Amino acid sequence: MDSAALVAEVHKDSAAERVASDPGTAVLGLSLRDFRNYGTLQLGLNGLPVVLTGPNGAGKTNILEALSFLSPGRGLRRARLSELGRHGGGPRWAVHARVATAVGTISVGTGLAEPAGDEDAGERRIVRINGEPAASANVLSEYLDVVWLTPQMDRLFVEGVSTRRRFMDRLVYGLDGGHARQVAAYERAMRERNRLLKAGGADRVWLDALESQMAEHGVAVAAARRDGLARIEAAMALASGPFPAARLSAQGGIEAWLAEMPALAAEERFRRLLAERRGYDREAGAAAEGPHRSDMAVWHAGKGQAAEQCSTGEQKALLIAITLANARLVRGRRQMAPLMLLDEVSAHLDARRRDALYDELLALGGQVWLTGTDEALFAGLSGRAEFFGIAEGAVAPSAVH
Ligand SMILES: Nc1ncnc2c1ncn2[C@@H]1O[C@H](COP(=O)(O)OP(=O)(O)OP(=O)(O)O)[C@@H](O)[C@H]1O
Ligand SMILES: [Mg+2]
Repeated sequence: MDSAALVAEVHKDSAAERVASDPGTAVLGLSLRDFRNYGTLQLGLNGLPVVLTGPNGAGKTNILEALSFLSPGRGLRRARLSELGRHGGGPRWAVHARVATAVGTISVGTGLAEPAGDEDAGERRIVRINGEPAASANVLSEYLDVVWLTPQMDRLFVEGVSTRRRFMDRLVYGLDGGHARQVAAYERAMRERNRLLKAGGADRVWLDALESQMAEHGVAVAAARRDGLARIEAAMALASGPFPAARLSAQGGIEAWLAEMPALAAEERFRRLLAERRGYDREAGAAAEGPHRSDMAVWHAGKGQAAEQCSTGEQKALLIAITLANARLVRGRRQMAPLMLLDEVSAHLDARRRDALYDELLALGGQVWLTGTDEALFAGLSGRAEFFGIAEGAVAPSAVH
């Protein structure tokens, strides 16, 4: 069954099961097998926010990582798929979840595929939706969005460009249903052109065709970034509360052209540039210009300062503000708040910001998963969330809440 038909069917079958009063994506059941430090784990959930507390190394982030596989890609640690298998248990692992989504409650299963027999085939993740194999993990984004914030992302503003570019594209994925496909199509054409140039690049007709594809998809990528970041910036400007507004911009050659000319003219210019630079790109082994080089610039609007010059706490606050604004926009597009995974976010905030964050998360309505070592940090959510304690890979409901 194609995915559109599946969506229609799920919609029909599970309309009655939909949680009418809850506008948010929520995991209602989670089971893990041989995933990281979990042999087997089964959790039943009621759709409220989830607080996971426990000592360092207990397995909190591993649960969020498992949930991040409910979206396309390599998860929140960008690990190799075979690293996720429990040590001593082999590389195979499985995550299964029952998820309330905008099109009803679905069952998602994912894990490392059996090796195809061909050593070079690489690792592949299989995804099943309601028991049916999905063509690729990308199908997941037809059902739900997952957004996350992890301590590693604290380094976003000081790390290399590629981390920021990936972050920017993930933001845009949730706002523009075609963006992931455009990014993938651009990269495919670019890789093929690199290969062809390296091999001598004699096939002019094929090179022309690949460069036309790069121009078409590349300009679409740049345009979606400009549009997505502008919308997030506008959403942040409207927000009140203690989190700062930011100015955001996609920085790249094509993005800059789009400020001055229509998309078709930018496509033509990019196509001509690629054709002119074949010799140069062959030497370099890669295309010198294109949206695969772009960066995301972030300024603290109130201070008029670049994010990389802000304090650690200010940078964290900027990231939270961007994530919250993005989640609000995703909810607008999907009529359903995304699933949110916030790893150790509370520990970095003062009490006022923490309470404001909890209020905002509850107002958003999606299920948010929060982690921390200290349960006291989540007192503001008492009675409004499910609390679990984790110790050495065993998860149990906390008594006090
Ligand atoms: N493939 C694996 N097999 C078994 N254990 C693993 C695997 N990968 C990671 N671990 C272990 O899982 C444990 C829990 O890791 P996790 O990152 O979830 O901890 P945490 O509760 O988030 O801790 P912290 O508070 O320090 O962030 C760690 O001890 C880690 O070494
Ligand atoms: Mg952790």
